[in-house]
Amino acid sequence: MQKKVSDIQTNGEFIKIARENLDQENWDYLVGGGESETTLLRNRQSIDSLAFRPRVMRNVVNIDTSTELLGSKLRIPVFLAPIGSLQRFTERGGITTSSAAHDFGIPAFISSVTKPDVREIREVTDGDLFFQLYVRDDSDWILRFVDLASELGCKGFCLTADTANYGRRERDKIKGFEPRRARTNTKSDGFVYQAALDWDVVDAIRKHSSIPLLVKGIVTAEDAILAVEHGVEVIYISNHGGRQLDHGRGSIDIIPEIISAVNGKAQVIVDGGFCRGTDIAKAIALGAHAVGIGKMYGLAASAGGGEAVIRMLEILEEEFRLALALLGVTSPKELCPEHLQTVQPVRLPSFSSAFPHFDIEKYNY
Ligand SMILES: Cc1cc2nc3c(=O)[nH]c(=O)nc-3n(C[C@H](O)[C@H](O)[C@H](O)COP(=O)(O)O)c2cc1C
Repeated sequence: MQKKVSDIQTNGEFIKIARENLDQENWDYLVGGGESETTLLRNRQSIDSLAFRPRVMRNVVNIDTSTELLGSKLRIPVFLAPIGSLQRFTERGGITTSSAAHDFGIPAFISSVTKPDVREIREVTDGDLFFQLYVRDDSDWILRFVDLASELGCKGFCLTADTANYGRRERDKIKGFEPRRARTNTKSDGFVYQAALDWDVVDAIRKHSSIPLLVKGIVTAEDAILAVEHGVEVIYISNHGGRQLDHGRGSIDIIPEIISAVNGKAQVIVDGGFCRGTDIAKAIALGAHAVGIGKMYGLAASAGGGEAVIRMLEILEEEFRLALALLGVTSPKELCPEHLQTVQPVRLPSFSSAFPHFDIEKYNY
């Protein structure tokens, strides 16, 4: 018998329940990555290659875990990253997860390819939303989405830049299952616009609207500098959870070069492999402003809908608060690179290696 969501005490339990609830196709879609899944594994390996240098003898009785992103208040420095097809994991898809994010106190990014769409989500929640677009048509089409995001009061407009072509997902290929996206890396339809995406599109958006602009999928100092020059407010470091280019670097390893390149001219957020409070603390210590959670909330939603997403965030908060206290700080802004040191990881990475108490063979991770 499955536990009540309120009785769950560790986020690893959500992974186990999600595995039981999802069929193989949806499981592979959620947890899989591109080609050899090296990028995906490296996200975890990089996080696990950092150890803490805590400070002691400090008064940490009163801890404030909150922060702010583009006017949005974050109860912990975390947001829900955009996930397409959320409807495959939980009833009412993005409505369920965005409402959960709002009830907990963090914003949600809404993917242009999730259902119900951002309009329907906005009808049922007045929580803070960021709209994320995959480009599928010309600039007039893009600007209509920019206007829509403004009309719906979204806190920012996010362009995903790392999907010029759809990654090769071998889990799908082996099963003989080919998502529509994977068949459209050719010029056959709107996907050619995604392949043609360049800084001119950013300029057109900047000229058209004052909505804060985020570019997701930046992984080099060179592109971060260009983003700042083109008026991007938030650099969103991401390798798409290891679902796109294989043999990429772990996301957390990229933070220092980008922080140094933007030199305070833009905020920096990051995602990729983050599932624990200590993971969040490491990214913030390196200078990230907030951390996106991807698979972890897809898994929680698959395990128990919105209630499980809230419980997952509560556990994350508990872990983050504990990390702050034991590092000797009382707020995220006190974290700094001196709290970290590079080390050898103690175990091999997997997407769920943050939760070693589960039988990975049994659950086919
Ligand atoms: C099932 C799934 C669907 C995703 N769909 C989108 C999407 O529609 N748009 C997007 O920009 N990123 C998408 N991503 C990438 C996430 O926004 C995020 O970058 C990634 O999941 C972070 O890594 P993590 O899953 O290890 O936390 C998706 C990720 C997953 C797992």
